[in-house]
Amino acid sequence: MAFISQEELNHIRNSASIVDVISSYLPLTQKGKNYFGVCPFHEDHSPSMSVSSEKQIYKCFSCGATGNVFTFVENFLNVSFIEAVEIVARQVGISIQTPIDHKKSTPYQEEYALMDFVLKLFQNNLNTEAGVEAIHYLKKRNLLEETRKEFCIGLSLENNVLYSILKKKDYKEKMLVDLGLIQEKNGQYYDVFRNRIMFPIHNLDGQVVGFTARCYKKEETPKYLNTKETYLFKKGMILFNYHRAKDSVRLTKQIIVVEGNMDAIRLSSVGIKNVVAIMGTSLTKEQINALKKLHAKVILMLDNDQAGETATYAIGSLLEENHLDFSVVRLSGEKDPDEYIIKNGKEAMLDAIKNAISFMDFKLKYFKQNKNLNEASDLAEYIKAVLNSLKNNDDEILKEITLQKLSNDYNISYAILKEQLGENEKKKEKKYEASKPIVKESKTSYDRICEKILYYMMHQKNFVKLYQTKLGIFPTKKYRSIANEILYYVETHKTINLADFITYAENTNLKEEIMDIINNEREEEFSEEGMLELLGVMKRKIKQEEILKIKKEIQQEMDVNKKVELLEKIAEIKMDIEEGCE
Ligand code: CTP
Ligand code: MN
Repeated sequence: MAFISQEELNHIRNSASIVDVISSYLPLTQKGKNYFGVCPFHEDHSPSMSVSSEKQIYKCFSCGATGNVFTFVENFLNVSFIEAVEIVARQVGISIQTPIDHKKSTPYQEEYALMDFVLKLFQNNLNTEAGVEAIHYLKKRNLLEETRKEFCIGLSLENNVLYSILKKKDYKEKMLVDLGLIQEKNGQYYDVFRNRIMFPIHNLDGQVVGFTARCYKKEETPKYLNTKETYLFKKGMILFNYHRAKDSVRLTKQIIVVEGNMDAIRLSSVGIKNVVAIMGTSLTKEQINALKKLHAKVILMLDNDQAGETATYAIGSLLEENHLDFSVVRLSGEKDPDEYIIKNGKEAMLDAIKNAISFMDFKLKYFKQNKNLNEASDLAEYIKAVLNSLKNNDDEILKEITLQKLSNDYNISYAILKEQLGENEKKKEKKYEASKPIVKESKTSYDRICEKILYYMMHQKNFVKLYQTKLGIFPTKKYRSIANEILYYVETHKTINLADFITYAENTNLKEEIMDIINNEREEEFSEEGMLELLGVMKRKIKQEEILKIKKEIQQEMDVNKKVELLEKIAEIKMDIEEGCE
């Protein structure tokens, strides 16, 4: 990343009006001090996002999205932080002083350049004599030259050709091995990919980080050979075709998720470009976040086999837990989206997408698998599975509709279904309370006070001073570290406000924790009395903890004199509480 100084960032941010910038993207209406609009970061129709011209931040009271003018542009346009800064600067007519070299701004420059070079070599191989058979295979699979070029498809050769070329270019073996391009065996080096069709894999930002390589002469195992996990290629952080799909996602507001690279390539080649492939049958937290960042409806369209069916249930459950808006397509007939398009054409695919079903409807079918619903025990199991999956859902209307449907379809009393669902939900609550009482308790009192204090501190320098003089330190490391970031910011900038601190926080490793606090706090009015009260409560809490600890020591202490000493200590702390926290 380019190193625009915090001062320069603050200057740009201060010159921009968040209300003006956001209204250039979506309509805002003024209500009192604040402005309101429909939040673009989740599916919504009512104006739940408020924009404060005083604080220069936005906050959605429904999905919790919060930030300043830079984060808004970053998330709304789905661009990098630096690009967002440039856009805002342009909008307010400021030219950025620090020269931004977009290429230089990323680490691993040499590695990316090498991967690009290797990609070019592979692509070139395809056009040589050695590539004739591979081209024939690709043509047979209906991959035209245009698509081959767009997806930078290439060919790896036999006889360690790659290694020889790279060696001549003075690349060090260690780097080549670390990047998964060559491998070492008994002191000899060999190409990892030999005589396979090479598909480059890009990271989310569009840099080539690895390859997936298909056999083509005869069916070999593995069918696809992928780059091993390297410091550039982390499969769990990648979605195939993400960087190309972004633009079309912005237009269609949909992102289609398929299993295989070939499926993504096929959809894209017929003009359905808003597609990514997960390259397997699971999804990581990072991949889910990448999907979330697109602010689009997910269409889950996995292979038409049992593995795809099971994966649809597993991935669907994950998407649901993570509150993504999504629906499901189950193709019939052909094995996967690639073959479906080849056999039935683009229009049939578009129809299938149009007819995507809800995850609940998918589950209603899925739970029927291997069951004979004419048999009482199977039917009972089925009903239980459906009710069980409903209890995790907050959509009351969906619950109602599903219960009605079950009742009608299977002739079961609606009242009984409703009652059973109620029982399940009660059990769920009880289980939750029984397993987590202490954590929950401490989260509501102690954590919330710490977070409130920190939130105050992010707004004004004098609150930071009060913290230093009245409390000085948080007992918990996480809060202490956040407080230290705030102290450091105030020390170097002599002032603080929430909007600038958000920019600063973006580049710390406490970003998530800090944004979590900002997202959760609702306080609008800040006063010195308010802060003093919080600090007082906090101090009393710390002292009471101390007393509890000493009381435990007393119970275990055998020596009477020591017991008395400890009791005196408690008395002292109690005096402290009365004096110190008026
Ligand atoms: N895959 C893999 N290794 C394998 C098989 C599959 O990494 N040995 C990954 C690939 O990313 C592949 C995806 O899983 O794209 C889906 O596998 P599959 O459905 O078998 O492949 P297809 O996409 O159908 O590939 P093709 O049409 O070329 O046979
Ligand atoms: Mn296939």
